[in-house]
Amino acid sequence: MLQNLPDSVSVYEVSPRDGLQNERATVPLRSKLRLIDALVLAGLKRIEITSFVSPKWIPQLADADEVGRHAKPPPGVAFSALCPNGRGLERARAARMSEIAVFVSASETHNRKNVNKTVADTLVAFQETIGPARAQGMRVRGYLSTVWGCPFEGDIDPERAVTMAKKLLDMGCYQVSLGDTIGVGTPRHTARILERMFGEIAPARLAMHMHDTRGTALANVLVGLEMGIRDFDASVGGMGGCPYAPGAAGNLATEDLVYMLDGMGIATGIDLERLVEAGKVAESVVGRSLPGKVHLAGVRSLKA
Ligand code: HMG
Ligand code: MG
Repeated sequence: MLQNLPDSVSVYEVSPRDGLQNERATVPLRSKLRLIDALVLAGLKRIEITSFVSPKWIPQLADADEVGRHAKPPPGVAFSALCPNGRGLERARAARMSEIAVFVSASETHNRKNVNKTVADTLVAFQETIGPARAQGMRVRGYLSTVWGCPFEGDIDPERAVTMAKKLLDMGCYQVSLGDTIGVGTPRHTARILERMFGEIAPARLAMHMHDTRGTALANVLVGLEMGIRDFDASVGGMGGCPYAPGAAGNLATEDLVYMLDGMGIATGIDLERLVEAGKVAESVVGRSLPGKVHLAGVRSLKA
């Protein structure tokens, strides 16, 4: 029997950021705002709406300033955005964001390809973002990418990932989201990583950000749930991927995550029917069919 399951979990939606950053076509501002509205209507309470990164590196999100200015969260909803440096923080502040997310990889090569810096220099550069953002009343989330594997270096030593996650928390992140950036994780591997993490870090300070490249994201989430993780990232329709991680495909689809949690009696505050509608909005916004399982099959389950 499954053990230690919670009554509720928190879902952190990343489609307007992780999803749209990986689309070939740049989506117009109006369509981005339509997607964000649909996600709010579905009941998502935490949404990463864009990235204040270099527009040369991620042209799809070059309109981050306008997205931030136009998208205003209703009470009880928090919007966040990726922020790599002091310039990004200035832009986030001008857009009146209440939360930012910083990011670094557990592997040196992916980090260098993604932000053009060594891991050590990236952590130093966080002094431009984490402390100053907190001093201005913003919350700061951290991402640790490639924890399950790197597209360039292969396996990652979990001890290195633990040290880096601790460092992000010590620097002032309220939570670190552990990324399976290229979707290579399997359940025993996940259990080993989490066991090591929980030796040093309370489960409440960690989230899981699983890409579903090989169909194992939900299996890994189930391991996380049983072991004490209560925060999961997901992307409607299963959009997503890091343009600087070759082979990275979509995130775990939010509909698939919520369908499983609903079926297990674990509350998310999200209305699955409306979420499916948000997935259809996402599909029309990006103009291609999306891969999420529930998105394709619908919500209905057979009655016994
Ligand atoms: P760089 O080229 O080394 O930096 O990029 P630079 O400081 O030399 O700046 C180059 C140019 O960019 C300059 O403009 C700067 O002003 C400008 P120029 O003088 O050439 O005209 N610039 C900026 N413009 C606007 N906003 C900024 C900004 N910063 C510099 N914030 C940098 C370094 C970090 C900026 C770049 O590498 C970058 O933006 N990288 C972001 C890559 C990215 O967004 N990757 C995807 C997100 S991570 C991910 O998907 C993984 C995750 O989902 C978790 C997981 O799945 O594991 C989070
Ligand atoms: Mg990602």
